[in-house]
Amino acid sequence: MRIAVVGTGYVGLVTGTCFAEVGIDVTCIDIDQQKIENLKKGILPIYEPGLEEMVLRNTQKERLSFSTDLATSIQGCDAAFIAVGTPPGEDGSADLKYVLAVARAIGQHMSDYLVVVTKSTVPVGTAQKVRQAIEEELAARSANLAFDVASNPEFLKEGAAIEDFLKPDRIVVGVASEKAEEVMQKLYKPFLMNGHPLIFMDIPSAEMTKYAANAMLATKISFMNDIANLCEIMGADVNMVRRGIGSDARIGNKFIYPGIGYGGSCFPKDVKALIRTANENGYQMRVLKSVEEVNEHQKSVLFNKIMNHFQGNLAGKTFAVWGLSFKPKTDDMREAPSLVIIKKLLEQGAQVKAYDPVAMKEAQHLLGDTIQYGKDEYEALIDADALLLVTEWPEFRSPNFTVAGKLMKEKVVFDGRNIYEAKDLAEKGFTYYGIGVKQ
Ligand code: UGA
Repeated sequence: MRIAVVGTGYVGLVTGTCFAEVGIDVTCIDIDQQKIENLKKGILPIYEPGLEEMVLRNTQKERLSFSTDLATSIQGCDAAFIAVGTPPGEDGSADLKYVLAVARAIGQHMSDYLVVVTKSTVPVGTAQKVRQAIEEELAARSANLAFDVASNPEFLKEGAAIEDFLKPDRIVVGVASEKAEEVMQKLYKPFLMNGHPLIFMDIPSAEMTKYAANAMLATKISFMNDIANLCEIMGADVNMVRRGIGSDARIGNKFIYPGIGYGGSCFPKDVKALIRTANENGYQMRVLKSVEEVNEHQKSVLFNKIMNHFQGNLAGKTFAVWGLSFKPKTDDMREAPSLVIIKKLLEQGAQVKAYDPVAMKEAQHLLGDTIQYGKDEYEALIDADALLLVTEWPEFRSPNFTVAGKLMKEKVVFDGRNIYEAKDLAEKGFTYYGIGVKQ
């Protein structure tokens, strides 16, 4: 089989590469010439564990190629996946201009039956707009060609994208014809080996599934953050409460870790977009509005603890920050809670010395020389008045606190992800602050 994947961002690149990995002939298309040139040389625009090797392997086997030429690349394809960005507009709604521009280009250049699949996260009703855009272009050139649209939302997580794509919990596909179902069934057959389902449904339901999944996960996180804050007030320990409720299979033990708020390119954007879609259609998403509100508040929780500890005087203090990306195993800093915390510290006249295993370049790009950067996690600690654990990278999980204590001016730890035990740190002479745990 042969497919084209338009957009070589996170989703597009992972999708294209993983389809190539199972033997499908894939062309990844992008309008960014430089990006395509780099990809041809094996230089990736993003960091994702295992992706670079997979791109190289499949490029060498000539199952994966990169091009800026959509017109030629879609010829002979069974399906074209649209995986371009849908940035949030000023009002919070997903901006569809890139998706629809690709649909138009497909309509202008297709020459045979094609399934046009929306892979980007798009609001309910987008597939219909894609269909219309293609129909208009076909009509403009008096081409009488059959095509189908399908919605195939992606559920992969940054940092675990390849594993998620190759062994998905489920694959959701919205279709409106048997022919499209057949093509999608054939394409996804190699990924169904672990027995997880390929769920076919109507197109609006597939589009809604994506938003409902992310909104539900964001809700779990905000709910637990609220519980954590209440635990602190009531003298309970959220780590215990989490274990207590997570063992109930109806609740589940995933995505119930409190912290300093969810970030990244998906949850904040998708929660906003769903609130917006509802609003436009005369309905209020009351739960999700609170989910957002709690999340905004949560980004300040660590800072408020710092202010309390230092009695509101942070001028001239130095803070070591461990972790800058919005979560481990990625260099992505979009909507990262670290940015909010660092901004607040700098506003108070504090200094920040940060270290992140892979996001240093991205951080320098965003923060420039407003902060200092450590060569490693220990160097970031030198003369620090406190350590702030912001992203739970595996290498931060069991540091040598005896060494750390000697490097720091004050032995204080603010743990934004509850990865340390208050008791262990107290034994080493540290003052410990976690989220929703006893001090
Ligand atoms: C999320 C979803 O998990 C994917 O299924 C989805 O495909 C993706 O969005 C998307 O729409 O593209 P991702 O944003 O990569 O994936 O990251 P997650 O691992 O879901 O983490 C999101 C945020 O929630 C992070 O800031 C993380 O620190 C936070 N989080 C997660 C918590 O605060 N507590 C938890 O228990 C879990």
